[in-house]
Amino acid sequence: MKQIYLDNASTTYPKPPSVAEAVGDFISNCGMNISRGTYSSAFETGEMVYETRELLCRLFHFPDCKNVVFTPNITTSLNIVIKGLLRKGDHVLVSSMEHNAVMRPLVQMKESGTDFDRIPCTETGELILSKAEELLRPETKAVIMTHGSNVCGTLMPLKEMGEFCKKHSLFFIVDSAQTAGVIPVDMEECSIDALCFTGHKGLLGPQGTGGLIINDKLAGLLVPLISGGTGSISHTEEIPDFLPDRLEPGTQNLPGIAGLHASLEFILETGTDTIRQHELSLTEQFLSEISGMDHIRIIGQKDTKGRTGVVSVQMKDIDNALAAYQLEKEYGILTRVGLHCAPSAHKTLGTFPEGTIRFSFGLYNTPEEVHLAAKALGRLNTPFPY
Ligand code: ALA
Repeated sequence: MKQIYLDNASTTYPKPPSVAEAVGDFISNCGMNISRGTYSSAFETGEMVYETRELLCRLFHFPDCKNVVFTPNITTSLNIVIKGLLRKGDHVLVSSMEHNAVMRPLVQMKESGTDFDRIPCTETGELILSKAEELLRPETKAVIMTHGSNVCGTLMPLKEMGEFCKKHSLFFIVDSAQTAGVIPVDMEECSIDALCFTGHKGLLGPQGTGGLIINDKLAGLLVPLISGGTGSISHTEEIPDFLPDRLEPGTQNLPGIAGLHASLEFILETGTDTIRQHELSLTEQFLSEISGMDHIRIIGQKDTKGRTGVVSVQMKDIDNALAAYQLEKEYGILTRVGLHCAPSAHKTLGTFPEGTIRFSFGLYNTPEEVHLAAKALGRLNTPFPY
């Protein structure tokens, strides 16, 4: 049976062929460490990493590539910013749709005397921005917000929130896990102080790559979460005070960054508009094919306005996990079922604790696959005999 991969919100698969080629080529033919060796192949690695920073700046519209910091994943990026910034007594705002990559560090930090409030969202996941003002406190320091929900795909108003942050002198920190590479994010236009990204989802790169793009003002306030060798100012045991070294100690995932370099080139050549249109067209098709089914409930928005290619559904009469199991066993369809590491989002959407079955479409899915998935879902309309 052919597999139909519809879990691109978890990680995109497959990747452009140039990604595996670049990873393999780096390991086989170069493989030297950056900022340590004084031989030419070490400088070649340095150039490749530098170019990757430049590609990220182009994609997210940021002027200075020294402010691109690589990390192993967006969870680390968010931890670097959240734990580096917040001190006892500080308060931040988040949306009620956040992933645990934001919520767990904040809940953990409560023990050190920091606090947060959730800006409410509607039951389809739209931010109620008018409620943000009344949650402000004199000690509010930042807004930390996802750009797109990993549960139902609803997009958050980055530009409006950027204006809100500017008006109230708050830092604006964005989790772009579900949108980077698919939906244009302009850091300048949206007044974003730190954009946290992962390499292995919409950016189409390998797992183990991620980072943040952060402006000098916010970076200057961060206490580095991790410290160590950087290959720079080695005469001192102090942490460098310049970027990216200040926040980027230790040897990075260089084969991964080589893969990310290739995937970013692919994205910039293809154009995010083309990728977005493809994903939206598949989402529209899926929503239209499943909209008349009485045995399921579509969670979140029912149309393609203001959303990504993520669609969550609940089975009315059948356990969601059993249905997801059946989708794989009978039809080869791979989805993600449960709470998607986002209990706050599920509480907002009214799907806690049972969760949902999530279908998430990517660049390499086809209308035929979407049709087969909708047809399979349509057939799961009778309780299983167990
Ligand atoms: N956060 C990723 C997801 O939603 C892993 O599946």
